[in-house]
Amino acid sequence: MRILFIGDIFGRPGRTIVKEKLRSLVKEHSIDLIIANGENSAAGFGITGQMAEELFELGIDVITTGNHVWDKREIIDYFQMADGNPHSPARRLLRPANYPGELPGWGWYEGVKGDFHYAVINLQGRVFMTSNDDPFRTADQLLKATTAKVILVDMHAEATSEKISMGWYLDGRVTAVVGTHTHVPTADETVLPNGTAFITDVGMTGPYDGVIGVKKELVVGKFLSNMPVRFEPATGDVRLCAVVVDCDENTGRAKSIQRIMQK
Ligand SMILES: [Fe+2]
Ligand SMILES: [Fe+2]
Repeated sequence: MRILFIGDIFGRPGRTIVKEKLRSLVKEHSIDLIIANGENSAAGFGITGQMAEELFELGIDVITTGNHVWDKREIIDYFQMADGNPHSPARRLLRPANYPGELPGWGWYEGVKGDFHYAVINLQGRVFMTSNDDPFRTADQLLKATTAKVILVDMHAEATSEKISMGWYLDGRVTAVVGTHTHVPTADETVLPNGTAFITDVGMTGPYDGVIGVKKELVVGKFLSNMPVRFEPATGDVRLCAVVVDCDENTGRAKSIQRIMQK
């Protein structure tokens, strides 16, 4: 079984390159399951229900998010569409599982695609981020409840150390731990000794001629002035960053992880 995971989709440039490249990527890599982090889909800040549906229509099976999930308030209504209706597409949009439990939305999804039974878990780190529940123990609890062998974890975090620790902590218990959030791809993709594919950060799918997606003049200006600045998405040097994880669907063990960057 082959899984494509696409890193943080940023604004219209990110959504457009996914639209342009996804079909050929799926064919070229014989992809069975597509997961994408969509937390920056709406001009860099959050995601709307309509954007989630557009991504689902392109063939993305599950959308993960992170700290930007709440930026567009209407996403709360979209999450609530899946209340009591587990077959609603809205159920396949996730927010990190270790936010307070009473918040709208879900942090995991367990489903079937063709012959393949799989689960996706979305976690958020706590280093230099909001003080959510412990992502490590949240992972333990969710893994106790899941019956899928193929399990992908999106570890949305700032600190490389926290993401690498999660990789080691879950090695042999999940198929892949992929890092998101920093928008800068790392070159450390590997299969850990007990069969978990790992990368510290998949990288952003969006414009690279800015500062992690935002127009460079605005961010540089903010560093110079320390004044509040309204961020706008950059537009140029658009790239799609992703990984392909090949795994044994019967054991859930990863065989390989390949990093992809397409312009
Ligand atoms: Fe992001
Ligand atoms: Fe983030």
